[in-house]
Amino acid sequence: MFSKNFAILFTLVAAVINTPVSLAFPSYASLAGLSARELAEIVPRLQASDPPNPPGPLKFNGTKLVNDRAHPWKPLERDDIRGPCPGLNTLASHGYLPRNGVATPTQIINAVQEGFNMDSSTARFVTYAAHLVDGNLVTDLLSIGGKTRKTGPDPPAPASVAGLNTHAVFEGDSSMTRADFFFGDNHSLNETLFKQFKDFSNRFGGGFYNLTVAQELRHQRIQESIATNPTFDFTSPRFFTAFAESSFPIEFFVDGRNPVRALSMDNATLFFRDSKFPVDFFRAAAPTGGTLAVEIFNAHPIAAGKNVNGINTFTPDPTSADFSSFCLLYTNFVTKTVGGLYPNPTGVLRRNLIINLGFFYDAIDGVGCTELFPYGKL
Ligand code: HEM
Ligand SMILES: *[C@@H]1O[C@H](CO)[C@@H](O)[C@H](O)[C@H]1NC(C)=O
Ligand SMILES: *[C@@H]1O[C@H](CO)[C@@H](O)[C@H](O)[C@H]1NC(C)=O
Ligand SMILES: *[C@@H]1O[C@H](CO)[C@@H](O)[C@H](O)[C@H]1NC(C)=O
Ligand SMILES: *[C@@H]1O[C@H](CO)[C@@H](O)[C@H](O)[C@H]1NC(C)=O
Repeated sequence: MFSKNFAILFTLVAAVINTPVSLAFPSYASLAGLSARELAEIVPRLQASDPPNPPGPLKFNGTKLVNDRAHPWKPLERDDIRGPCPGLNTLASHGYLPRNGVATPTQIINAVQEGFNMDSSTARFVTYAAHLVDGNLVTDLLSIGGKTRKTGPDPPAPASVAGLNTHAVFEGDSSMTRADFFFGDNHSLNETLFKQFKDFSNRFGGGFYNLTVAQELRHQRIQESIATNPTFDFTSPRFFTAFAESSFPIEFFVDGRNPVRALSMDNATLFFRDSKFPVDFFRAAAPTGGTLAVEIFNAHPIAAGKNVNGINTFTPDPTSADFSSFCLLYTNFVTKTVGGLYPNPTGVLRRNLIINLGFFYDAIDGVGCTELFPYGKL
């Protein structure tokens, strides 16, 4: 009797200790950086999904009420995931994205177009870039943040559940309202930084976040990171996303009926802190995405680079792409970033990498960069 119970207990304990990674592996966690052995164990247990072609542009692309009755804001439930992007957080909290914060690239592209009028090329470029580095390419799912807020002990989760919180590939340093990874929490709204956002809006925008504020605050955040973050990295792709994201509140968070592109602090607080549209919010008047980024850069130009030896050692990195070498952004992203995460993919993982890299390239089709096929063709 004792020995039988003991045997059962032992089996249970052994089962817990030896739980294969795959049992604790969420369907949205990235497979990047896993060993061939881990991949061989995990991939067959995932429900593989064929990535569908991306959705096209909006049929009606003008402004309209998007905080409507079909998309009410709801507070978070226990397992809902939110991350560093106030745009995606808001779309999830209004049900334009699955409210749990786990979505397919198709759902994300539809949501940013429908809810904010992001243009088709930008939506596809940003979404597939994020999916390639932070998403699960086998299940076609991407989390807009990290782990769930679930109370109680977490299962031994792989680092790759960080989703869009994952540092250095898509999430990056010198955000306006999120602290650098070096300082710990890199995705929640940081009240100190948000206070600075408001201070700058008062000083340079008469109480509103406008292009002048975007230019000054972007510069300030870069200088702060150089002076305080020994690991500060401001090379591509972060070099681009930092300037683009500084333009997004002007392009997307200001009501589409308002010709003055300036965001009030009350409305900024709703988006950045509460993931909430203002009452009666109309999306942008025309498809747009990051067109102000170069103007923000031009106010205080800086070379792409990093702190190479502690604080205040910012050094240009000539191998990084910048605004004068856009195709290098594409090339470095495909060969260095994605190539580094997936040195040797096989089977469905390789297949879906090829498909998603194709969608990523299609988003910049008109630019004239040479398409790369690091994993061959199908
Ligand atoms: C298309 C898919 C999108 C993806 C994958 C995405 C992803 C991200 C990520 C990973 C960050 C964090 C970067 C960092 O600061 O370290 C970010 C920041 C940001 N995103 Fe998005 N985003 C998307 C679309 C949007 C849209 C449509 C908006 C606006 C409506 C938006 C507004 C912002 C803003 C304002 C920030 C900067 C936050 C700050 O600096 O404090 N994003 N996004
Ligand atoms: C918006 O829709 C109109 C009418 O269908 C179309 O002519 C225009 O090209 C679209 N704009 C963009 C930027 O897609
Ligand atoms: C907020 O950001 C500041 C400046 O980057 C940092 O010193 C502080 O530790 C952050 N606070 C939290 C709670 O993360
Ligand atoms: C931003 O607002 C300030 C204060 O009203 C104004 O002086 C400045 O010209 C505005 N910037 C832009 C680009 O409109
Ligand atoms: C805040 O947003 C709402 C909805 O878009 C808009 O009607 C209102 O004018 C905005 N408030 C300010 C002060 O700009």
